[in-house]
Amino acid sequence: MQMKIAPSILAADFSKLAEEVKEAEAAGADMIHIDVMDGHFVPNISMGPFIVEAVRKVTSLPLDVHLMIENPDRYIEQFIDAGADYITIHVEASPHIHRTVQEIRRLGAKPGVVINPGTPASSISSIIDYVDMVLVMTVNPGFGGQSFIQGVLPKIREIKQMIIGKELDIDIEVDGGINSETLKLCKDAGANIFVAGSAIFSQTDRQKAMNELRLQLTN
Ligand code: DX5
Ligand code: ZN
Repeated sequence: MQMKIAPSILAADFSKLAEEVKEAEAAGADMIHIDVMDGHFVPNISMGPFIVEAVRKVTSLPLDVHLMIENPDRYIEQFIDAGADYITIHVEASPHIHRTVQEIRRLGAKPGVVINPGTPASSISSIIDYVDMVLVMTVNPGFGGQSFIQGVLPKIREIKQMIIGKELDIDIEVDGGINSETLKLCKDAGANIFVAGSAIFSQTDRQKAMNELRLQLTN
């Protein structure tokens, strides 16, 4: 699978969001990760379709929209109309997950399923054949800048085996507490898309930050 880095704009300076996104693109980002939080599924409130639309105008990179919201079905169309390329939904927030995944695909985006650190790999066994990506949370969602949970690594390996066993061709993305050290651990466990918020946007030299992460991808 192709190795990709997806900067999360949650850690960007929103007073100059366009510049931040362009800087990430110039530094070699492969996609832009957009964290949508509703204050219900997760304790924090972040951004909605307007931000996706604004980001869509300033970059041609794929937009990876991570929905940390209850009833994701209700908002999928708005996010896809706003320019989302990938829509990932939490298994914990999606009681009718096949319908939701099908709807994302019907509307022209790539569906992905997300699992929290406490949710077992077995929870996605019936949906994995229908998605383009599995996003394994390496922190409990809701905030940027949290510490990586090491205990998630065996689950990444388990999901990688599930994908190999089923002869699927899908991505494993990791999100939360990713820096050059934890990126390497996740890569060795089988992940190939790496979300990084503070490891990129909280650094003054974004190019240097990106290069440090990318170095681990070739090791
Ligand atoms: C957490 C979000 C993450 C967050 C990652 O709920 O889903 O995408 O922005 O931030 P860092 O990389 O700082 O842990
Ligand atoms: Zn995220």
